[in-house]
Amino acid sequence: MNDTNTKPDVLWAGRLEKKPQAEAFEFQASLRIDKRMAAEDITGSRAHAAMLGRQGIIPEETARLLDTELAHIAREIEDGSLQIDEGAEDIHSFVESVLTARLGNEGRTIHAGRSRNDQTAVDFRLYCKKAVLRIDAELGRVLNALLDAAETHAESIMPGYTHLQRAQPVTLGFHLCAWACALTRDKSRFADALRRLDESPLGAGALAGSTLNIDRPQTAKALGFARPTLNAMDSVAARDFAIELAASCAIAQSNLSRFCEDIVLWASEEFKFIDLAEEWSTGSSIMPQKKNPDFAELIRGKAGRTVGNLVTLLSMVKGLPYAYNKDLQEDKEALFDSFDTLETCLRMFAGMIASARFNTGRMRAACGGGFLEATDCAEYLVTKGLPFRKAHELSAVIVRDCIAKGLPGIASMGLKTLKTYSPLIGDDIIEKLSPESCVSSRSSFGGTAPAEVRRQIAALQTAAAASLAIMRS
Ligand code: ARG
Repeated sequence: MNDTNTKPDVLWAGRLEKKPQAEAFEFQASLRIDKRMAAEDITGSRAHAAMLGRQGIIPEETARLLDTELAHIAREIEDGSLQIDEGAEDIHSFVESVLTARLGNEGRTIHAGRSRNDQTAVDFRLYCKKAVLRIDAELGRVLNALLDAAETHAESIMPGYTHLQRAQPVTLGFHLCAWACALTRDKSRFADALRRLDESPLGAGALAGSTLNIDRPQTAKALGFARPTLNAMDSVAARDFAIELAASCAIAQSNLSRFCEDIVLWASEEFKFIDLAEEWSTGSSIMPQKKNPDFAELIRGKAGRTVGNLVTLLSMVKGLPYAYNKDLQEDKEALFDSFDTLETCLRMFAGMIASARFNTGRMRAACGGGFLEATDCAEYLVTKGLPFRKAHELSAVIVRDCIAKGLPGIASMGLKTLKTYSPLIGDDIIEKLSPESCVSSRSSFGGTAPAEVRRQIAALQTAAAASLAIMRS
């Protein structure tokens, strides 16, 4: 074998005489992905070194040296004065190799009582905790943008749709609150996942713990985890925390995709409900008239990759024997991509919404002509004592007759004719059938009446302000 083509400087060089060829080495290496966790790897190592010193597993003096050098390395990586060696196997080997190159034998003491299996798990969890805080903050910003617009438009009337057919009048503020409700649940889904992943696997070793007198509660506390994981084997094998986060990302991104689909529809010439800001639209290279909602389309499109990442992770763990297997190395690329996608999309969505203008005139006009007041007519008859099924039938007959006569709405039939359908129909029916009345009388809990929408906005504002960062400090 051609030695110049191989990688002799790996952590496991002692066991195997022959090393993989460069391409094969590259295939199994993970540095390209896990170099993102350099800061977390060093944080974990510092906590571990301090614990080794305090427990008398290495001399206190060595622990201090390791800590100082690790702090240097972290700073140098951050300011760019230390380049991460792209040829290293993973971030753990890289940091240890720099430590050893600088401190010699003292650097070689760091790996006592741990393995890369628990090391990668602790780095990953530390990274996830930070990512969740960032996503939580972005979700909060999107919620604020939506709720600002909802407040402005608590009384702006528009058609509400089922089956993408005009159904009943609602307000734009109400529609935006519906989106905000979904995002509030996304926020709580991340918070919930965070509570479960908040355990330190450090010190689990390869899979069974350590013969050395390590103190896992101590490192867990130093790293800001709620507690150490209970079982060493579970610590290195479990990736359900990553799956939960990937699921939370996929659900949040799917929610965004639905909001974006509404926006794409609303931005069309057919609806014209929304004017996206020019800086949040794109043009066409051939059709001079075009102003396309590309940002909304792309956010919608990117939901697919987050679903894909979730499936990647689920398939990765399915049927995997306990405990650690190299398959698990595939975890980070998928979840990092979901984090990146969701974070960016949330930022784009907030910018797009905050700068959009709603065409309230078009929205109000779209409530006319489609008999959106038919349910109100039926409910009017219910208040006069007619059983709902009969009221529904009678309203349907009235609507059919209006259509046959080419009338645009029930009220345009005129009070006199309307009264011929039932003695229960009184003078007060006409005022009940305007879109304004349809909206304001839907004041049941959660309904679209402006006063009710304002109550919803206030509740959602409280949820939006409940930042995880504040909760955790
Ligand atoms: N790069 C590995 C991962 O991300 C680190 C753990 C490697 N452990 C091992 N025994 N090869 O999963």
